[in-house]
Amino acid sequence: MTPPNNEQESASTPRHVAIVMDGNGRWARERELPREQGHQHGRIKLHDVVRAFSERGVRFLTLYAFSTENWRRPSEEVQGLMTLAAEAIKQDAPRLHQEGARLLHLGRKDRLDPDIAAAIDRVVDVTKDNTGITLSVAFDYGGREEILEAARSLMRDGVAADNVDESAFESRLFTNGLPDPDLIIRTGGELRISNFLLWQAAYAELYFTPTLWPDFGPQEVTKALDSYAARKRRFGGVEGE
Ligand code: FPP
Repeated sequence: MTPPNNEQESASTPRHVAIVMDGNGRWARERELPREQGHQHGRIKLHDVVRAFSERGVRFLTLYAFSTENWRRPSEEVQGLMTLAAEAIKQDAPRLHQEGARLLHLGRKDRLDPDIAAAIDRVVDVTKDNTGITLSVAFDYGGREEILEAARSLMRDGVAADNVDESAFESRLFTNGLPDPDLIIRTGGELRISNFLLWQAAYAELYFTPTLWPDFGPQEVTKALDSYAARKRRFGGVEGE
């Protein structure tokens, strides 16, 4: 994954894309397979999708892999997703590292299996100086919880109310140091944000596709980026100002 050239890095290319990867269960059901197989096929897609975004000049990609609400799923499914996370760290992370990707984790680690938490820390550390795409994986992540934790942290540190501005707040979010997402994609046909990047999504363009996550490939990446390129972003201002 080479850094984008100046031509690629234009206003029509989002700097940061974030994805709600939905539809694994339905993909499996359509094939009369267990839900776990849907997640497994979803995992297999990760590398190609990261590469496709990187080649199109996207510098930051964030994937919603496990939400704070996903703990409510049947324990076998939760366990299956944990196993997939371990596999992704073992198989995908080394390839991504070789290609120059920097990996980050967004979310809580205290509820994860200690071996998985330690493996995440290692991958983040090993890739920290890479200069290619920054891939953040939201795993045990919830937007409301992130906001509450930032508020708690400000209070714990005794920050005066008048000093609580956007930058003080943002520095206490999991996404500290990342630009806000320009484009949020949700696969699987649902039209909602599901507790993902609630603060950071303030001015994001939204793109919803009925394509189920295991079917989301490089062609779908192109469609989403073309849709973004056709948008006019005004950030609350007036066009042309
Ligand atoms: C939503 O589909 C998807 C998830 C809850 C998990 C996303 C995980 C992956 C794509 C692969 C795993 C990757 C890692 C790094 C663990 P759903 O089950 O809600 O689908 P449905 O709406 O069709 O039931």
